[in-house]
Amino acid sequence: MKKKDNYKQLKKIARIINSISCFIMLLIIIFLLVRYDVFQEKYTIIDQEYHDPLTANYNTASLDNSKTNIAIKYGYELFQNTPKHIGPNNGKDEMVYAGNNLSCTNCHLQAGTKPYSGLLIGIINRFPQFRGRENKMGTIEERINGCMERSMNGKKLPIDGEEMKAFVSYLSWLSRYAPEDGKLKGVGYASIEIPNRVVNLDRGASIFKTKCSVCHGIDGKGIKLNNSPVYQYPPLWGEDSFNNGAGMTRVITAAQFIKSNMPLGATYENPLLTDEEAYDVAGYINQQERPLKSNPENDFPDLKRKPVSAPYPPYADDFSIQQHQMGPFQPIMDYYMLEHGMKKTK
Ligand code: HEC
Ligand code: HEC
Repeated sequence: MKKKDNYKQLKKIARIINSISCFIMLLIIIFLLVRYDVFQEKYTIIDQEYHDPLTANYNTASLDNSKTNIAIKYGYELFQNTPKHIGPNNGKDEMVYAGNNLSCTNCHLQAGTKPYSGLLIGIINRFPQFRGRENKMGTIEERINGCMERSMNGKKLPIDGEEMKAFVSYLSWLSRYAPEDGKLKGVGYASIEIPNRVVNLDRGASIFKTKCSVCHGIDGKGIKLNNSPVYQYPPLWGEDSFNNGAGMTRVITAAQFIKSNMPLGATYENPLLTDEEAYDVAGYINQQERPLKSNPENDFPDLKRKPVSAPYPPYADDFSIQQHQMGPFQPIMDYYMLEHGMKKTK
């Protein structure tokens, strides 16, 4: 009788041990699945709590080395030190995609997180998007390649390549706390009051000399970091700058960027120039020589959608090229409103 009891007891203990080890095994399996990213989504959601998308943590150094995070970190590195990886002198011919040594962060400041400098937080949610330049819906990859062919004066990155995927991973990560429609304060540029007159080139030149040339150089060609293809102060014109198809060559766009970002240290809340100064210095910069975009006539299949300050023809109006480059813009805007009912802002 006693022996049988003991046996029953033992069997009970064995069952308990059995279920405990099963439980531990299960924990180990779950741990391994998580450790090797089996549950990973396209980008890492660190937590589900509310974070203000404009002030959340965007320091990629805080990420571990999961497969997704490695792509995010590479995207950040490409963004910050673009010429080292895809610039004209990166040392690998098959990896040369950019035609100049600018970095994305030179225009999308603080790695794309500074409001009113082409803010990229939430960008993934804002795509696909209608684009007037191509007159069709465009993807985020096509938009990145838009900057590759113009701002970077280069050629398209392959859509399936590691670099494009890394850019998209980084931008997805920057969008992780953004509202579903991607709309945030600080997207694009802050509008300014555009003076209703021709750009004053003499004033532009003197503002450039007194407020910009310390960093960008009196010849506008910028200054590189020691022993590096990366600029400390990027060029504003010349052969290593953006080409004439870039958004920054439109006086209105450049003036808006400059007003909230330059001289370095300026913000939307604390600008360092007046609207008039930003307009004149933008006009001065954009009258200097820079690379020319090939086949610019193919842009804007529906010419009416072309921004009034696009500096290159053809146009759907009879205003002179010079007026499209240096204003006054109000008469051109009025024309499009009157003739086509289109409200132009740039
Ligand atoms: C010379 C300045 C400049 C550089 C360098 C530059 N961009 Fe841009 N980027 C712009 C401007 C200007 C716009 C907005 C144009 C407009 O408003 O039409 C823009 C727009 C974008 C957009 C769309 C933003 C939106 O809110 O719709 C993305 C994405 C982008 N750039 C990615 C990049 C990437 C990636 C790089 C580096 C490979 C890069 N850009 C380099 C000036 C630049
Ligand atoms: C204290 C140094 C400094 C001064 C002064 C300064 N900039 Fe910049 N500028 C920079 C830096 C640095 C960048 C790139 C930002 C980055 O990479 O974070 C930049 C970027 C730019 C860009 C976009 C990138 C490019 O290559 O075109 C423009 C346009 C620009 N500056 C115009 C101006 C104008 C106009 C002034 C004078 C009103 C000015 N800057 C004064 C440091 C300066």
